[in-house]
Amino acid sequence: MTQSSPWPQLDGIAYGGDYNPEQWPVETWHEDVALMREAGVNLVSVGIFSWGLIETAEGVFDFSWMDELLDLLHANGIHVDLGTPTASPPAWFFANHPDARVVTRDGTTMGFGSRGMASHSAPAYREASVRIATELARRYATHPAVVMWHVHNEYGVPVGEDYSPHAVAAWRLWLRERYGSLDALNAAWGTAFWGQHYGEWEHVGAPAAAPSVVNPAQRLDFARFTDHQLRACFIAERDAIRQYADQPITTNFMANQSQTTDLWAWGREVDIVSDDHYLWAPDREGEIGLAIAADLSRSVGGGKPWILMEHSTSAVNWQPQNVAKRPGEMARNSLTHLGRGADAILFFQWRASRSGAEKFHSAMLPHAGTDSRVFREVTALGSDLAALAEVRGSRVRADAAILWDFESFWAQDLEWRPSDLLDHDERVRAYYTQLWRDGITVDFALPGHDLSGYSLVLAPAQYLLTTRDAANLTAYVAGGGTLVVSYFSAVVDENDAVHEGGYLAPLGEALGVRVEEFLPLREGDVAAIDLDDERLTIDQWSEDLRVDGAEVLARYVGGPADGAPAVTRNTHGAGVGWYVSTRPDAAGLAAILTRVYADAGLTPAGLPAGLERVTRHGRDADYVVLVNHSDAAVAAPVAGTDLLTGTASDDETVVAAGGVAVVRTPPTRGGGR
Ligand code: GAL
Repeated sequence: MTQSSPWPQLDGIAYGGDYNPEQWPVETWHEDVALMREAGVNLVSVGIFSWGLIETAEGVFDFSWMDELLDLLHANGIHVDLGTPTASPPAWFFANHPDARVVTRDGTTMGFGSRGMASHSAPAYREASVRIATELARRYATHPAVVMWHVHNEYGVPVGEDYSPHAVAAWRLWLRERYGSLDALNAAWGTAFWGQHYGEWEHVGAPAAAPSVVNPAQRLDFARFTDHQLRACFIAERDAIRQYADQPITTNFMANQSQTTDLWAWGREVDIVSDDHYLWAPDREGEIGLAIAADLSRSVGGGKPWILMEHSTSAVNWQPQNVAKRPGEMARNSLTHLGRGADAILFFQWRASRSGAEKFHSAMLPHAGTDSRVFREVTALGSDLAALAEVRGSRVRADAAILWDFESFWAQDLEWRPSDLLDHDERVRAYYTQLWRDGITVDFALPGHDLSGYSLVLAPAQYLLTTRDAANLTAYVAGGGTLVVSYFSAVVDENDAVHEGGYLAPLGEALGVRVEEFLPLREGDVAAIDLDDERLTIDQWSEDLRVDGAEVLARYVGGPADGAPAVTRNTHGAGVGWYVSTRPDAAGLAAILTRVYADAGLTPAGLPAGLERVTRHGRDADYVVLVNHSDAAVAAPVAGTDLLTGTASDDETVVAAGGVAVVRTPPTRGGGR
């Protein structure tokens, strides 16, 4: 075994997508590769769902078509990201191993005829998935087309949890490992309440559907267990491949769009982070959700360049209304990902399927063929990305961090919370949106990370916060940082148990406040807060907040907390801790953050409305990526050469309505390869 490479052996930005040629006769493959060359494609992912056509019966392999395919791609200079097909076990697998089927929380056994995971804990599945990964690696590790390995597909999507007998047996072992004794488990889960005390390990079940709410600590542990088992499946395949192959190994995440896996832990296991992102049609500012996904992908990979493994050229086919992308939108989406650190822009899928579940999904080569808007835009994007080759390897630098903690989200999403309007994604998005509009680049982070490099840290939804991580945040403030904490944070510990001392107690020192009681509002009710002489609208949530050293910057006007402190600012050591105990509207949050920026020494970029700006820092140059989401041309005060047009300017760059620009400017902060 040799050392794995940090990045597939490609020049420039990788461009291409999933390629599932087993749907067509070989003549079509020849047409495909010719058109791929025309479009500038240099990387395709193959074999992701091909298990049944490679292992045709248990232990019987037919590699002939894959041999031919890889040779053809290689002969045409197209590199391969080779999939292990374990997200879709074949019919023979489920027929031979019916016990390896997933059982849902309500006891339904999942059938065959779709795609999807077998039980992550079934020995037959573990064995079969390692076998196919091993055979593929043994055969193709040295194939010159193969530059990367793509294990499985989107672990945990659509189903991660499993309540089958194999899963329950593995769960008990996992609990024994975690707690050591039943006494420790009983204490962590608080089983003294509702008479749930366990006297035998065999009595500890999975948190299946029950007459009322199931113990939340048990459910939180089950989410951790599920994540652990899925990751164990990945690691087993990865290590099997690594015995033979030295190319980088990845598996595609769904960053913020599926939260069943703890991507901070997964980020440590992959050689390169890769992510799939699909716009959600009801979201009329989908570019902001997309930017979150991109920043999160970069962050879980420790800031290194990452791979956009899938997005769509136009409509998807699995939403209530599958809205087609309008001209220019695919390029804007792609450039946002690139600006936020992606060195590969790939799609699902190369050629649109004629049959099967995804035939109404867009593709690089649509049903309409090459004489189509989509194919013309695909080809134009290929040539734009070729012009950006020198951007590869450059890094994004962020002054601000937003805390994103999957465990906390899992815990917050359990039942019987003080209000069903509490929504961590909504809070993160609200804070992120304001920074996006202000042109302040964001990393995501965990509360236990070293945050000292950031001048601003935001905690929009940190419901679960361990005392240890709270101490880290407190030290961050003491060291000179500016911390902003939003409501319903630092409420519980790792066992979903309320902190001793009450809500927010672990951050008391940093914030100088404590929460005496939650005062949620009825849906639709509004109240206000007064911030200096501005009256700001709030809704959904207020608190009976007690000040313990902090300065009160805003008080409630009306609503259940009328007259009580609403927004506070506390000096602690060399830094400042802000607490926002309610949900201001967008204008209100902007007003609060303007004051926060002053503490953090940050200045909004003052961008024209709808213009997104991110900078990648290389060794020899910076690359300012400008994406114009508005329908008017805008001028940005960026001087340099637009790599897409070759135009040089010494004062400003004009970006066409709906257009993009990537401006090479002198290097400012180092970074790069
Ligand atoms: C992804 C999946 C692809 C394809 C795509 C359609 O989640 O990995 O295989 O189904 O969705 O949008």
